[in-house]
Amino acid sequence: MTDSIIQVDNVHKSYLMGKEAVPALRGVSLNVSRGEMVCLMGPSGSGKTTLLNLLGGLDEPGRGHITIEGQNIVSLSEEKIARLRLHKLGFIFQTFNLLSNFTAFENIEAPMVLSGKLKRKERKERTKQLLEQVGLIDRMDHYPSELSGGQQQRVAIARALANDPPIIIGDEMTGDLDSQTGFEVMTLIRQLNQEQNKTVIFVTHDPRMAEFADRTINMLDGVIYNETRRNDNDPKG
Ligand SMILES: Nc1ncnc2c1ncn2[C@@H]1O[C@H](COP(=O)(O)OP(=O)(O)O)[C@@H](O)[C@H]1O
Ligand SMILES: [Mg+2]
Repeated sequence: MTDSIIQVDNVHKSYLMGKEAVPALRGVSLNVSRGEMVCLMGPSGSGKTTLLNLLGGLDEPGRGHITIEGQNIVSLSEEKIARLRLHKLGFIFQTFNLLSNFTAFENIEAPMVLSGKLKRKERKERTKQLLEQVGLIDRMDHYPSELSGGQQQRVAIARALANDPPIIIGDEMTGDLDSQTGFEVMTLIRQLNQEQNKTVIFVTHDPRMAEFADRTINMLDGVIYNETRRNDNDPKG
């Protein structure tokens, strides 16, 4: 039996626009296995970001259940949600979202400072290891504005890995990159998935990026309408 790390059970979510409830998710159920790499696709407005936000505890469903590593994350206290985000989830965004007045090194170190689990020396060591891992050790003192888009996204990936979370969540993380750079970023993510057994759930509009996933889930109007699994004989990845 496979180890299920994320369970989404009949989740509904509406946003209030004045007095109107705008439905964003209309009964989504999903199981993700540990070590699986899952891609979410679907037209703009189909509910992909809403689903990722709910998984990250950034918002709450109107109805339904979400569990991560066996923990029900709906209605957790702010403090518990913050700890969940810090230790269980690494987020990667389209626009990188780095702190502009922090260097690459400081951006990657920041989640470890917040966590407080490592001593100063261990933290500095780990930050360097992460910089090595994403190929940016020679750029560690650069500010985001001094880095290319691809380099900034590598910093964001290293930052997402800082506290060694089991799950990586990416929302259109290659959307602002040219296709070659996007491909390199996805290759790195797939490597983390395969070598460190990270569970990855990511949104993309690009079918070539979706090919990196074990499974592609297609959303439309707030529901999952079909999914496809990678053929095990596929030589890629
Ligand atoms: N903060 C919000 N307030 C109101 N409506 C929202 C908000 N965020 C998303 N929506 C609506 O919810 C639906 C799903 O949006 P979203 O999850 O962002 O889709 P996707 O990421 O697939 O483009 C859309 O109809 C969108 O307009
Ligand atoms: Mg979106």
